[in-house]
Amino acid sequence: MLADRRAHSGDDLLSDLIAARDDQDRLSEDELISMVFMLLVAGHETTVNLIGNGVFRLLEDRSRWDRVRAEPQLLATAIEEFVRYDPPLTMATSRTAPETFELAGRTFRAGTPVDISLAQAHRDGNRFPNADQLRLDRLQNPHLGFGYGIHYCLGAQLARLEGRVAFTALMTRFPDLDVAVPATELTWRHDFVRGLDHLPVRTQARTSIHG
Ligand code: HEM
Repeated sequence: MLADRRAHSGDDLLSDLIAARDDQDRLSEDELISMVFMLLVAGHETTVNLIGNGVFRLLEDRSRWDRVRAEPQLLATAIEEFVRYDPPLTMATSRTAPETFELAGRTFRAGTPVDISLAQAHRDGNRFPNADQLRLDRLQNPHLGFGYGIHYCLGAQLARLEGRVAFTALMTRFPDLDVAVPATELTWRHDFVRGLDHLPVRTQARTSIHG
């Protein structure tokens, strides 16, 4: 994308960041790549999939959609549950064991890479009663979808807010929203991001996006 924007710069954020790099030498190349990675993967892909996955889960069983429309205060717990059930980031970033330690009967030697599956942790029946069920009103929900500890997601509150705004707007403007293809035609991505390749939807509502 950076090479493309260098060749055809436009009125967009990437072009502005490139200008800050190429014209004024303010960002190093590494900083530019890190910045774009953070914006696109950490800030954008994650939230896009929170919204896409959440809309799919609400429409997959229409009683969920109707329930949240009738009780919008449920959105707070519902959004946490979407992050638990279909975590937009399924893996934490790679860690390295700083020292040799034991966990659950296994030895992790100092220096070995440790990859943590957040998605797997979210199906731990000891932590989440009926872990395989999506519960819009799950009150105890100590999920790891935004990470844990010192690297806890910087954008967690923003992401929750974006989710709330998007779900509220969709339910208000397109109350009859529905998935436009049979569920069997939907395909999931196969990387560390949990999300659908596409979610075609249909609506009869003719609400102006400006209204
Ligand atoms: C639903 C949306 C989001 C999810 C599921 C999510 C998930 C995560 C996770 C799991 C981590 C920890 C990674 C680790 O420890 O290995 C993380 C870190 C981070 N997230 Fe998010 N994130 C979301 C939205 C955002 C947004 C909107 C932003 C910024 C606008 C953002 C910025 C960051 C940053 C900067 C870090 C690194 C923090 C650090 O290393 O100290 N995230 N996120």
